[in-house]
Amino acid sequence: MRLSFLLLLLLFLVGVNDVEGASEFRVCAFNLHHFGESKTRKDAVMLTLSKIITRCDVSLLQEVRDSKEVALPLLMSQINRFDTRHQYQALVSERLGRSETYKEQYVFVYRTDTVTVTGKYQYPDTRPGNVDVFSREPFVVRFKALTTTVKEFVLIPQHTTPANTTKELDALYDVLQHVKKMWKTENVMLLGDFNADCGYLAKKNRKNVRLITDQRLYWLIEDKTDTTVRSSTSCTYDRIVVNGEAFAREIVPMSARPFNFQREYRLTEDEALDVSDHYPVEVLLKVVRSKSSFHLKEKSVTFKAFYIMNALFCKAFVLILYCL
Ligand SMILES: *[C@@H]1O[C@H](CO)[C@@H](O)[C@H](O)[C@H]1NC(C)=O
Repeated sequence: MRLSFLLLLLLFLVGVNDVEGASEFRVCAFNLHHFGESKTRKDAVMLTLSKIITRCDVSLLQEVRDSKEVALPLLMSQINRFDTRHQYQALVSERLGRSETYKEQYVFVYRTDTVTVTGKYQYPDTRPGNVDVFSREPFVVRFKALTTTVKEFVLIPQHTTPANTTKELDALYDVLQHVKKMWKTENVMLLGDFNADCGYLAKKNRKNVRLITDQRLYWLIEDKTDTTVRSSTSCTYDRIVVNGEAFAREIVPMSARPFNFQREYRLTEDEALDVSDHYPVEVLLKVVRSKSSFHLKEKSVTFKAFYIMNALFCKAFVLILYCL
């Protein structure tokens, strides 16, 4: 009898481990729709952006059009003031685009306490026979995360040009092969506003896109998912694609989805459109529930409080059982 109670007690204590471990690791991609100085002048917009971006361990921001380099620093300081539990840093690409007057940057905002940057690579877009295929060449970044089951992973961002979606998506396949070889890794995720739907990617053209036809690639945001804010549109423009079964297994099943911030933060359509005309898309990577996270947390006050409460509860429980 006593032994079974002891076992029960042990079970309760072990349960603490589950509660306290870092529970998720979120990767997001968000087209900010003309993010520049004018958005920084709208407090409500900046607050919503801070809320959205601080949900994620890593966010890929697109359509950052900050020629005077003032908007992004403002956003970063607001983010760091909004969420003081973490520290956020930005890794910014060059200003990309064919026209002198219209350029965009890819920006990765990430938590410095959960993830580190271990490599970056601006795709040169000089592939023979297909030179300058992209209007915004991928700015590829490799990350190392402390808590995820996959230790290192690579993110390939892309915001396609609507008129050239088919060609650019197909060319992303070449980028993927190149990056896999260069960094000797299969843990690669492609993400962003692919414009991969509605008028921009015709059904009949899909068979010509290797990024779609290769069975080893997993399109996690499925067709018919609405990633657009306007109630009058429903298109799956924004996507997350994972390379290979091994990496796909390290993703939390069914976790990929658009984040409907309009509904979540109870905004009107116009208020939401002030922020962006896209929803962010997101996915969770599996995290380790290990002894090490147990020990890491052991020092924290909340852990101690929880531990003591739990122990008291268990003692009471055992006592009650004895009395019965
Ligand atoms: C589409 O791609 C071609 C060549 O790759 C380029 O010349 C053209 O400007 C692109 N269209 C747009 C709208 O960027």
